[in-house]
Amino acid sequence: MAPNWNPDSWKAQEARHLPDYREPEELAQVEATLSRFPPLVFAGEARALKADLAEVAQGKGFLLQGGDCAESFAEFHPDNIRDTFRVLLQMAVVLTFASKQPVIKVGRMAGQFAKPRSAPTEVQGDQELPSYFGDIINGIEFDPATRRNDPARMLQAYSQSASTLNLLRAFSNGGYANLRQVHKWTLDFMGRSPWAAKFAEVSDRIGEALDFMQACGINPQTVPQLQGTSFYTSHEALLLQYEQALTRRDSLTGDWYDCSAHMLWIGDRTRFDGSAHVEFLRGVGNPIGMKCGPSLEPDALLRMLDTLNPGREPGRMTLISRFGHDKVETGLPALVRAVKREGHPVVWSCDPMHGNVVKAASGYKTRPFDRILAEVRGFFAVHRAEGTHAGGIHIEMTGQNVTECTGGAMGITDEALADRYHTHCDPRLNAAQSLELAFLIAEMLNLEAQDRGAQAA
Ligand code: PEP
Ligand code: CO
Repeated sequence: MAPNWNPDSWKAQEARHLPDYREPEELAQVEATLSRFPPLVFAGEARALKADLAEVAQGKGFLLQGGDCAESFAEFHPDNIRDTFRVLLQMAVVLTFASKQPVIKVGRMAGQFAKPRSAPTEVQGDQELPSYFGDIINGIEFDPATRRNDPARMLQAYSQSASTLNLLRAFSNGGYANLRQVHKWTLDFMGRSPWAAKFAEVSDRIGEALDFMQACGINPQTVPQLQGTSFYTSHEALLLQYEQALTRRDSLTGDWYDCSAHMLWIGDRTRFDGSAHVEFLRGVGNPIGMKCGPSLEPDALLRMLDTLNPGREPGRMTLISRFGHDKVETGLPALVRAVKREGHPVVWSCDPMHGNVVKAASGYKTRPFDRILAEVRGFFAVHRAEGTHAGGIHIEMTGQNVTECTGGAMGITDEALADRYHTHCDPRLNAAQSLELAFLIAEMLNLEAQDRGAQAA
């Protein structure tokens, strides 16, 4: 257990991006209520994810993490949960086939509500109001009452997270995640995709592998693992009042776990020496992610790793690089080398979203598909050159047919962004773009798998 830590020791450190609640009594009441609610996940599940990630850290697996930038109360609907889950499964099948390794699936779902913002206030016309910080804190509508930081929103976020998680558990184990069914959805997608020819080979080979397994008598009836899958949840542990209220001592080990999700991460703006967010996550046993952007120096990263993972436990730390397509190849190698030199076991994952935001002429915030792909390629190239494992991707996506990122096989243009731009925060890949990205990453994983094969021979 972490020395000199308790669930509220973060309060003595510097907390950036936390809302200022004006009604302390109301806040205290909500915290007390939440702390009596059941945990959303069980510590044993967080340990199972850590064990999976430990394998990835050793080069034996791949992490697929994705979902909304910000979940919202308005978009809460079973179809949205189902569609995002389905696309993540489709991506996982393609990536598993290409890498010949297990793919660990982690949703940015069931708790991804709080957002750090670059400015504390927003001005429209002659009115200045607090910025929107995510539905767990205030509302998006530009109106003084809605923009008030309202502690009661935490209760609604908890309730939405609980029912989202319940549905995800049902989908994972109730027959929806059947491998053959997942492949059938991919074939439907191929039928509509302008890039189908490019992806046909991989897709055909997956189909043949399934036929071969069937012929050998390996099917969901004979091998129950084929009927279901494991699926984990994650979010940025930003709203520490909420995270603290859901932090519980595990009855089996006596260790503390943040039971709001299996995995929690620290954002690029809250990872600094003396940070309250680092202090909080230091003491919980969950697997932890940390975003690594261009401003992170190698020495600062090593200090963070020593604080967050002093015992160098594999699977504990996932480093999520987010440099931007034009900075990854110059910025990432120094971090990778420092971590390797010090012998820290980490999973390296690539977030190709947050360093690639541009403002379209139409005024919309977007991310060009080409730049997203270029950052992933740069990430793989760096790991190949350094002899380290490109261990995962972290994306903002949805199963819906939105128009938020430009490009992809459908060639979404700047002008088309207005058609279906629904995000509450950053632009997401839509269902087709997500799957296209998986097929393109499959090519890179194939190369890695060949390298491994050559080394083993
Ligand atoms: C995010 O993942 O939504 C986010 C805000 O990312 P970052 O901390 O990397 O900017
Ligand atoms: Co985002």
